[in-house]
Amino acid sequence: MTQTVLVTGSSSGLGHRTAQKFLAEGWNVVATLRDPAQWSGEPSERLLLQALDVRDEASVTAAVAAATEHFGRLDVVVNNAGMGLFAVFETTPPTVIEEVFDTNVHGPMRVIRAVLPVFESQGGGRIVNVTSSAATVPVPLQAAYGASKAALSAFSEAVAYELTDSNVQVKVVEPGFVAATNFFEANRRRFESIPTPETYLPFVQKQIAAFDVQPPAGYFATEDDVAATVFTAATDQGGQFRFRVGGDTLDGAHARQQSDAEYDAWRTTRFMAG
Ligand SMILES: NC(=O)c1ccc[n+]([C@@H]2O[C@H](COP(=O)([O-])OP(=O)(O)OC[C@H]3O[C@@H](n4cnc5c(N)ncnc54)[C@H](OP(=O)(O)O)[C@@H]3O)[C@@H](O)[C@H]2O)c1
Repeated sequence: MTQTVLVTGSSSGLGHRTAQKFLAEGWNVVATLRDPAQWSGEPSERLLLQALDVRDEASVTAAVAAATEHFGRLDVVVNNAGMGLFAVFETTPPTVIEEVFDTNVHGPMRVIRAVLPVFESQGGGRIVNVTSSAATVPVPLQAAYGASKAALSAFSEAVAYELTDSNVQVKVVEPGFVAATNFFEANRRRFESIPTPETYLPFVQKQIAAFDVQPPAGYFATEDDVAATVFTAATDQGGQFRFRVGGDTLDGAHARQQSDAEYDAWRTTRFMAG
C-alpha cells in the first residue's frame, strides 16, 4: 500500500524539499503550509495541499482530519515548520521569544497531539521532528532558538520512550547550517528589528564575521541532504533515534562527547576566537 506523509512548513526550504523527496519516492504527500498558494511544484494525484499553521490548534486538527480523509491513513508526520532568531537576548522582546517557543516547541506538540489518536487507531506510525545542531551546541546570539530546539529534542526523546508500547516511533533529524533556505533572510530581518546594545557590538560583529568564513565545499549539508536524511529517519528499520546531517553538526556532536575541559576548549575556539 502507498504510504502517506504529512510535512509541516512545506512552503520553502527544507520542508518543500522534503515533500518533493517523498513524492519522488512514490509516497502520498500532504504538504502543509500556512498559505497553500505558496506551494511551488507540479500537481499530482499523490499530493494534497493543506493549510496548517502550527500555532493554530484548529488548523492543525483540520489538516490531520483532511489528510486521513483524503488518503485513508497517515504513516509519517514530519514536524519541519520552524522559525529562527538571531538577536541579543537582553533586548529581545519576550513576545518574540514566546513566538519562537510557540512555533518550534508547542507547534510540534500540537501536531503530535492531533496525530497520536490516528496512529493508535491504525496500529502505528512515525513522527520525525526537525531540530538543529544548536540543540546540541548552543550558539551565541541564537540563545532562544537553541533553547527551543533543545526543548524539542528532549521532548522527542522522552515521548519516544512513552510510546514504546503503542508502535508509534519518534525520530529526530538534527541539521547544521543549510544555506539557500529562507531561514537566514528571515533571521536577518528579525535581527534588524531588535536593537543591539552598543556594548555588544564588537562581539556581534565578530560572530557575523565568523559566519562569512567559508568551509571546504561539501562541509555543510544541502537541502537535498537534509530531505534525504528525513526520508531515512522516516523509513529506517534499525531503531536509530537521532539522525545528524552536515559536517558542522557532526563536528559539534563529536566535541560534545569529549570531556568537559576539551569541549570548553573547542567552544572557546569556535565562538570566542579573535
Ligand atoms: N536552514 C538551516 O540552517 C537550518 C538548520 C537547522 C535546522 N533548521 C530547521 O529546519 C526547519 C526548516 O527551516 P528552513 O531552513 O527550511 O527555513 P525556511 O525556508 O524559513 O522554512 C521555514 C518553514 O516553516 C514554516 N513556518 C514558520 N512558522 C510556521 C507556522 N506557524 N506554521 C506553519 N509553518 C510555519 C515557514 O512557512 P511560511 O512560508 O508560512 O513562513 C516555512 O515553510 C526549521 O524547523 C528550522 O529550525 C534549519
